[in-house]
Amino acid sequence: MNPPIQRFRRLRKSVAIRQLLAEHSVDAQKLIQPLFAIEGVGLENEISAMPGQFRRSVDRLVDHCKGVADAGIGAVLLFGVPAKKDAAASAAYDPGGVVQRAVAAIKESTPDLLIITDVCLCSYTDHGHCGVRRDGQVENDATVELLARTAVSHARAGADIVAPSDMMDGRVAAIRAELDRAGFAGVAILSYAVKYASAFYGPFREAADSTPQDGDRRGYQMDPANVREAVRVAAAAEMEGADMIMVKPALPYLDVVRRVRESSSLPLAAYQVSGEYAMIEAAARNGWLNREAAIDESLLAIRRAGADMIITYYATEIARRR
Ligand code: PBG
Repeated sequence: MNPPIQRFRRLRKSVAIRQLLAEHSVDAQKLIQPLFAIEGVGLENEISAMPGQFRRSVDRLVDHCKGVADAGIGAVLLFGVPAKKDAAASAAYDPGGVVQRAVAAIKESTPDLLIITDVCLCSYTDHGHCGVRRDGQVENDATVELLARTAVSHARAGADIVAPSDMMDGRVAAIRAELDRAGFAGVAILSYAVKYASAFYGPFREAADSTPQDGDRRGYQMDPANVREAVRVAAAAEMEGADMIMVKPALPYLDVVRRVRESSSLPLAAYQVSGEYAMIEAAARNGWLNREAAIDESLLAIRRAGADMIITYYATEIARRR
């Protein structure tokens, strides 16, 4: 007698039954759209390594955000690209800085759209590292002070959530303390807790003008070889007061998303980064991939791995397609 077989195809035979039994889905309300603010007026400049993504002056960004919200996206992640950089990253915590002005203007015109701000110094330092330096080294504690100051300036402008991406130790505790002291106990922290030193950030560094002038970020970002460390840094962020944590990049790190999902009960975001976007766009432009199918499958994979929220350059497009 032949061994008994199971007929899996019974449950795959129509769209309706597949939809009924789908274990995971990508919901536009759980997607976060990253956006870039630049100085100037009337500017909307395409990022060459991220076709379809733009750096916008505040006026254009405000108009664009109305469309993002109308599409059904509930949250944006804002990056500021200042005109002037210096050793102390002073534009990062300038109350009149580009991201602070963008936050205030978007809040005024689209009050229900949640604004998350990226808190880091790399776009603001003249050397492009994520902190202030002494003797060629990024100084942890001096940087943390400036990050806390930056976060407070974002909160004062109207940010709902601040997202430190610098990878300095102790930044979440310092940011929490300073926010509370300044009267912003209601502003949440989304910690880029598990952020790897990744080649997949390449296109972003053109967008944010944040390529380190020398060396790399391996002295502060995580080693791609490690996964146990991800559990430890996520736990530390939680103890320091993070409200939400993030794993980044996403698709090459699905095992890490799963591992952190299982080790922490905090809401978990995964960031489909610029290089992940660029790979899909480049292949699609060459006719090598079905663009929409590849986007959907990549996002579904990130959800399946355990991410609650996904930060993706495709957020608004997905919301419009639904
Ligand atoms: C800032 C920051 C980076 C990204 C988000 N915040 C770049 C980096 O660490 O070099 C990457 C985002 C992307 O690639 O889409 N530190």
